[in-house]
Amino acid sequence: MTQRFSTDILIIGGGAAGLAAALHLAPRARVTVLCKGDMDTASSTWAQGGIASVTDPDDSVESHVEDTLNAGAGLCDPDVVRQTVEGAAGAIDELVRWGVHFDAEDNHFHLTREGGHSFRRILHVADATGRAIIETLTRQVLDHPRIQLLRDRVAIDLINLSKFGRHPNRCAGAYVLNRTTGHVEVFQSRFVILATGGASKVYLYTSNPDSSTGDGIAMAWRAGCRIANMEFNQFHPTCLYHPHAKSFLISEAVRGEGGILTLPDGDRFMSRFDPRLELAPRDIVARAIDHEMKRTGADCVYLDISHRPRPFIEGHFPTIARRCREFGIDMARDPIPVVPAAHYTCGGVLVDGHGLSDVPGLYAIGEVSCTGLHGANRLASNSLLECLVFARAASRHILERLDEPFPDVTAPHWDESQVTDSDEDVVIAHNWEELRRFMWDYVGIVRTDKRLQRAQRRLDLLKQEIHEYYSHYRVSNDLIELRNLVHVAELIVRSALSRQESRGLHYNLDHPETLPRSEDTILFPGFPDRLDVLQPAAS
Ligand code: FAD
Ligand code: SIN
Repeated sequence: MTQRFSTDILIIGGGAAGLAAALHLAPRARVTVLCKGDMDTASSTWAQGGIASVTDPDDSVESHVEDTLNAGAGLCDPDVVRQTVEGAAGAIDELVRWGVHFDAEDNHFHLTREGGHSFRRILHVADATGRAIIETLTRQVLDHPRIQLLRDRVAIDLINLSKFGRHPNRCAGAYVLNRTTGHVEVFQSRFVILATGGASKVYLYTSNPDSSTGDGIAMAWRAGCRIANMEFNQFHPTCLYHPHAKSFLISEAVRGEGGILTLPDGDRFMSRFDPRLELAPRDIVARAIDHEMKRTGADCVYLDISHRPRPFIEGHFPTIARRCREFGIDMARDPIPVVPAAHYTCGGVLVDGHGLSDVPGLYAIGEVSCTGLHGANRLASNSLLECLVFARAASRHILERLDEPFPDVTAPHWDESQVTDSDEDVVIAHNWEELRRFMWDYVGIVRTDKRLQRAQRRLDLLKQEIHEYYSHYRVSNDLIELRNLVHVAELIVRSALSRQESRGLHYNLDHPETLPRSEDTILFPGFPDRLDVLQPAAS
């Protein structure tokens, strides 16, 4: 018997965006928050550098707006940029009110600097800002009597009532795998907020946790939403290069505080690429590193901050110093070996200034969304900010509509009677690996038309295989993620193929010029979906 749950607002994702929205909504509504696992499954927890906000009297909103627009390479929505930057002060006040203690000196926030910012404007909690934010918000959420936080729940697909007979186009919940019982549950709600984070796990090397598989983007796409700007995948220039240091980021704040990049022979190469040297925007630094690694055959480059005093380094970067030490690197003495890795998904579910998607009742906030803030390249430390500003905007919009009439429809149960247990876990793992590798090789930092077409052909094959092999298998977390990764990869490749220029994070050797007119890449739902392997029962 399928378990059914009902709530006013279902939030899928318990990172900064989802938890903040829950806290805004709970005073007036019953809220359920679902996460794939514990708080480490959120990228938010791993955020190091901090959150951008204008607090220094010499700095200005205008300057933060301008830096964001410059990084975005002509593709940001200026109104959304202004809305977000102006909302920063309120977002910081909220965080402080909820209990986050940002680093401060002499009664002023300590501000660090990152690439593309004209001023020091990044508030932080040492080099573990995300963990401090998530621990604080989680405590508040757990204390709230109207918020139910459920872990080990993986949303499979959204419930759009229009798919079940003659009902309106309206999102009303989700089918969810309970990883503990192995069964699929139905969560019905008046509103759904997707806060599932990004999709960087589509690449072999990434700074993100394993759960960043683009589930929200893929679910929204299947539910009938437009998806925008998926070709803009941000690669962070500096992840620790060590066979056992999976996904560990070395914050841009290390460069902000004077860290320099060198080749193995000590050559400081960034002057050949940009006058801003190590503090050029990320796309430029990542491409420069990629270029130098390919040119010299080096396995990595080095990030060196050893010229700063040890107490300064260990005071500002305790987490990074600790992690480096585990691998025998003393960052106060040794240069750190680093390589670029997939870090942030600038595109996503197309939403308006309230976080509302194309499907009534469905909102998307945080990294899963494409609001227009980041354009073709996100400015460092603008994403936690976007999570908070849009969590508040979406919550307000929902609360204003909470009393509107809502169709009383019971979604069909999930039919598990025909499924067999899979003995194909190994094959799923191979498919994952294959996908992430060809995405890295063909759809990475530098692209060509031929590489993109090759990726598309591999994807077509993979889709066919998944369709043939997995149709009757019991739904599992790995299968859900594989299916979503394939959808997201296809959205990325299609978007990349359709952009006949290089702009921001999208660099194609066959089209190196930037066209005078800037346009978003918007994919409409409805290309044939052969991945109908996971289905609710017929209504
Ligand atoms: P996330 O924090 O990724 O949370 C996603 C949530 O959704 C998780 O709880 C996950 O379990 C859940 N979920 C996903 N799929 C499902 C599903 N199918 N069913 C149920 N639950 C699901 N940005 C900054 O602004 N400043 C920084 O300093 C910074 N540093 C970073 C450092 C690292 C290492 C990384 C990886 C990112 C960093 N970023 C930084 C980016 C920023 O952290 C993220 O963009 C932001 O935190 C995303 O928040 P979110 O709430 O949208 O998603
Ligand atoms: C970092 O600390 O380098 C990450 C900042 C970000 O991704 O915004």
